[in-house]
Amino acid sequence: MNKWGKLSLGMLLAVGLMTGCGNNNDNAASTDTNAGNTGTAAKTLTLGTSADFPPYEFHKVIDGKDTIVGFDIDIAKDIAADMGAELVIKDLPFDSLLNELSSGRVDMVISGLSPTEERKKAVDLSDIYYKAEQAVVVREADKDKFATMDSLKGAKIGVQTGSIQEDIAKGIEGAQLTSLGKISEIVLQLNSNRVDASIMEGPVAKSFVKNVKGLVITDAKPEVEDDGYVIGVKKGNTELLNQVNTTLTRLNSEGKIEEYVAAASELAESE
Ligand code: ARG
Repeated sequence: MNKWGKLSLGMLLAVGLMTGCGNNNDNAASTDTNAGNTGTAAKTLTLGTSADFPPYEFHKVIDGKDTIVGFDIDIAKDIAADMGAELVIKDLPFDSLLNELSSGRVDMVISGLSPTEERKKAVDLSDIYYKAEQAVVVREADKDKFATMDSLKGAKIGVQTGSIQEDIAKGIEGAQLTSLGKISEIVLQLNSNRVDASIMEGPVAKSFVKNVKGLVITDAKPEVEDDGYVIGVKKGNTELLNQVNTTLTRLNSEGKIEEYVAAASELAESE
């Protein structure tokens, strides 16, 4: 190999290292669309999400391959397609997502994100693309015991770290919180009697009680101020925010979001 051959190989490696940095959990949505690319850098759109949240975003083996799917992912794919960009998905802890956004390690966050005043200050948020209610999940035998929000006073409650459910639980008198990184860990805690109840989004609760024997949704109804989900971009990234809202408007008018929710719910329930 001559000197220039070595140099360009070195450059390629360097670029590979830079773009590959911290990408251990990445799951490129499109496969090798850049193969044979002759030089122009392909535009990528990097999504940050916490893929522990069926039917919004979750792991599923598809054609023998671990894949991140869900209706948030479908929306992300449409945004990327409308931009002519390749979607790159990073599966990250929920409580790290907004920092990753601010530091530019991801371009947008779609992760069943609820708009809160605090988050509005930290990042820019899109229009609301979907709404759902909150639910309380308990062991079957406790269904009647925890039928109201009042009955959760003093209970052991499992919630996701950094979520609005953590705030809801903090507001319950005497509640003992267990904050965990992943919803699946909370479900395990419930199953093994280490927590009494968990608060989560209704669609997520439904998907877990379908798949995990012995858990049910109670009649208790946690109230939230800002219901609905939004997409986050880095503060000041108006160009991407406008693109996101344009795509959301299109998807809404075409009835696509309801379609994606239905398909993802089915996928979350199938083996
Ligand atoms: N909607 C809640 C929030 O914004 C929980 C979202 C959790 N998302 C996830 N992919 N685990 O705080």
